[in-house]
Amino acid sequence: MNPDSTVAQLIDGVALSQKLRAMAGARVEQLKANGIAPALAVILVGDNPASQVYVRNKVKACKDIGVQSVLEQYPGDFAQDQLLKRIDELNRDQSVHGILVQLPLPSHIDANMVIESIAPDKDVDGFHVASAGALMTGLPGFWPCTPHGCMKMLESINLDLRGKHAVVIGRSNIVGKPMALMLLQKHATVTICHSATANLKAMTLQADVIVAAVGKRGILTADMVKPGAVVLDVGMNRDDKGKLCGDVDFEGVRQVASHITPVPGGVGPMTITMLLLNTLEASERRLSATKTPRP
Ligand code: GUN
Repeated sequence: MNPDSTVAQLIDGVALSQKLRAMAGARVEQLKANGIAPALAVILVGDNPASQVYVRNKVKACKDIGVQSVLEQYPGDFAQDQLLKRIDELNRDQSVHGILVQLPLPSHIDANMVIESIAPDKDVDGFHVASAGALMTGLPGFWPCTPHGCMKMLESINLDLRGKHAVVIGRSNIVGKPMALMLLQKHATVTICHSATANLKAMTLQADVIVAAVGKRGILTADMVKPGAVVLDVGMNRDDKGKLCGDVDFEGVRQVASHITPVPGGVGPMTITMLLLNTLEASERRLSATKTPRP
């Protein structure tokens, strides 16, 4: 039970996204007034059905707030050299401010090489080593969208992370590792758990904040959660009936946690919102670079 003996409050990613996207509209207008039409290039290689849905949602979200978005789709056997050549063109294209290559890529393509080929100042996914290094050292750079969206969700409930124990389940470069760094930057004590963690429950029971980012449903159940903990669910899975679900046993954990994110309608929309904000940031940096006279 949470301290009020009531079910957890939902952290509504749709509502928070709407609020943040509405605020972003003014930035789009400002950019346009200064002669910059913010633009994102989205590249999809192959026909992974989940990726197709994700990129369509990203392109639509851009259009909704007035950001230009071009979806470039290539067949599953598209050559790596061709892809790198296209990214090089987009890197040089002054009218493009952000470049996103949807992952996963087909196995004949070296994803790391592709990510590193994107100009860091257009790396709105925040996956480039320069972006990762900036996050680690506290320098300005693009932060990966999903963990950044999680941080905005914690901010929305006014959670002071200083001295709190945060447990991140999952160690991916896209979510787990950057999530841990962001929590650390806010002075949380951070534990990263993963598939080789000896006793996951012993860790999660100590946590004031739990971020589940494994991609495995039911990884976090009510008996693993301290009463009053805040639980963020990054998972995107299907249950036996084919319904979308997260990594967290939502019905059980909501009886114990103080706050919880639903799936769908939680972290997912926030990921797209942070992509939009990163694209605006990239466009604004271009604007200030064009305004600053070269020495
Ligand atoms: N695949 C799963 N999540 C992401 C993401 O945030 N960005 C990209 N480019 N690919 C993904």
